[in-house]
Amino acid sequence: MASTFQNGLSNQKQKQGLSFTEYCKGWSVLLYEIFFEKISSRHLKIPLPLPPLSDLTIILTGPTSGIGLEVARNLAFSGAHLVMAARNTKAAHDLINQWNNERSYSSSSDEAKQLLDIEVMKLDLLSLQSVVNFAQEWNSKSRPLNVLINNAGILNLGKPQSFSEEDGFETHLQVNHLAPSLLTILLLPSLKKGSPSRIVNCSSTGHLFGFVDVDDMNLTSGRRKFFSFRGYSSSKLAQVMFSSILQKKLLLESGISVVCVSPGIVRNTNVVRDLPKMLQQVFQSLIFFAYPLKEGCRSVLYAATYPEVQDYTKSLKAQDSHVCAYIDHDCTFGNVSKEAQNLETSMKVWDKTLNMIGLPSDAVDKLLSGDTVEVSKNDRSD
Ligand SMILES: NC(=O)c1ccc[n+]([C@@H]2O[C@H](COP(=O)([O-])OP(=O)(O)OC[C@H]3O[C@@H](n4cnc5c(N)ncnc54)[C@H](OP(=O)(O)O)[C@@H]3O)[C@@H](O)[C@H]2O)c1
Repeated sequence: MASTFQNGLSNQKQKQGLSFTEYCKGWSVLLYEIFFEKISSRHLKIPLPLPPLSDLTIILTGPTSGIGLEVARNLAFSGAHLVMAARNTKAAHDLINQWNNERSYSSSSDEAKQLLDIEVMKLDLLSLQSVVNFAQEWNSKSRPLNVLINNAGILNLGKPQSFSEEDGFETHLQVNHLAPSLLTILLLPSLKKGSPSRIVNCSSTGHLFGFVDVDDMNLTSGRRKFFSFRGYSSSKLAQVMFSSILQKKLLLESGISVVCVSPGIVRNTNVVRDLPKMLQQVFQSLIFFAYPLKEGCRSVLYAATYPEVQDYTKSLKAQDSHVCAYIDHDCTFGNVSKEAQNLETSMKVWDKTLNMIGLPSDAVDKLLSGDTVEVSKNDRSD
């Protein structure tokens, strides 16, 4: 009885949303990025020079459009073995043909005549079964994985709330957080084999506007009204919180780093594809001063390939930091939002997420020690 009463009290004290100051902070960072990110990152080269990548195997989600496409192109042209995890595999194959042609026309050297080292695998994040199939197929190859880049994401601006057909989760939550989390955990054995390895999660300044109500992650209770940016920002915050707990759970010896990275505000992607054409043009002109793709891909490339990133994640681990590494649009180590630093909520997000994606609470330990885990029918309830 006493503990129920205490739980009741702590629930009453629970935060119901962001404070005015937190919103102001979010707006100031967002506006700064829209207007000044090019100036603040003028020290960075275009394109960003990359270290030698020929020994690296990299899985990249969402490689067929926007930031992911530019990241894929840079990694492949720098010699990485790239696995394009795409829902539209034809578009991925078309890109590979285009890039191979481009390379052989642009130079007459023997090296340029070699085909790029890219393979394509099917992945639809709107289906958790597709994630399981992808991981099973990859793991069956028993190949080490050096980098996983969870880039694919959606922002259904202007669309009503929707839910994934197979799994029943709010679509931002599923594509931006739940499915990439499942993919990450299922690929841990392969990342361990490829260590020192890294998990790079494409975050967003949008996470500064996010608030996760762990009892209403699908935003269906009516306590907080759904609108698409709320779905997006909450899913991006959940992703950062989950990443922080994952980096805590991964022992230093595993050699696996977890990094969240903000690309900044990036023009000419398909992120606002759901808006009517005219509004898309308005949106693009509003962010006229923001990064074009060649600049917007740099922080993700930096997070995925630069050696000092792993040194930084190791130092965070040694300090037992309760937040994961966060790389800003200008390739500097930055800070996550105040809400994302809430360890108690992050732990709840971790537990809830595992529950929703059908993994046992000891999945990380089991997978890293070589055991298998069963992915059970997920729990859609909030
Ligand atoms: N653009 C920005 O200003 C900005 C700012 C902050 C953060 N971000 C983040 O950066 C990442 C890339 O965004 P972007 O702007 O480059 O957007 P984008 O052009 O729309 O690219 C998104 C990619 O994700 C893929 N994708 C979407 N739904 C998927 C699903 N169900 N299964 C598998 N793949 C799926 C898309 O595949 P298709 O090609 O088949 O559509 C596409 O390749 C996202 O995580 C986004 O949140 C972007």
